[in-house]
Amino acid sequence: MGKLKVGILISGRGSNMAALVEAAQKPEFPAEVRCVVANRPDAKGLDFARQHGIPAILVDHKAYASKAEFEAAVTDALVAHDVDFVCLAGFMRIVSPGFIERWHNRLINIHPSLLPSYKGLHTHERALADGVKLTGCTVHFVRAEMDVGPIVAQAAVPVIAGDTPDSLAARILTAEHRLYPLALRLIAEGKATVRGEIVEIAPNAVDETARLFSAR
Ligand code: GRF
Repeated sequence: MGKLKVGILISGRGSNMAALVEAAQKPEFPAEVRCVVANRPDAKGLDFARQHGIPAILVDHKAYASKAEFEAAVTDALVAHDVDFVCLAGFMRIVSPGFIERWHNRLINIHPSLLPSYKGLHTHERALADGVKLTGCTVHFVRAEMDVGPIVAQAAVPVIAGDTPDSLAARILTAEHRLYPLALRLIAEGKATVRGEIVEIAPNAVDETARLFSAR
């Protein structure tokens, strides 16, 4: 079976994209990154992609009269690079139902909380304000409702006394960089499959996900 051909959409720093690119550079990884698309010219991640020999494409949303035209241009860029699976990685545009339908069950996102808690923005500020002791990150398939969709994998991260939104974000980001490649690998290996609105993890993969993120 060939590798899953992945396109990554970013808006900024692109550290999750970089983690996916680095994972995919290993010969045994079951997915390859065909291109990186950014909607902002100043997206730092574009430089990283170029330096790693990956086509880095700017589709500036400001250059399009409507969201539908912008998203059609994004899809055109993905299709031109033979992409069959899309990862959102800090992509700060809400994608429309039409785009989600076009990439149905072939579109995932990473969110910095343990969904369904803390959908939306300012996740760390809200978690700290609530005094939760455990938070984390989630990779999920994208549905029309924001930060909703079948959950592929999650990593729990402790909140530590004295945490600020920045210190908590940094700790979660480290977990994101391990979680996103793991989730993509499970999907590419056929070990994480959407059934109904739940992702079923193959029995032989349950252990490895648990091992990666068990409390230490
Ligand atoms: C990450 O925290 C991700 O969970 C959220 O946006 C941030 C993007 O960071 N969706 P980066 O661009 O991947 O560094």
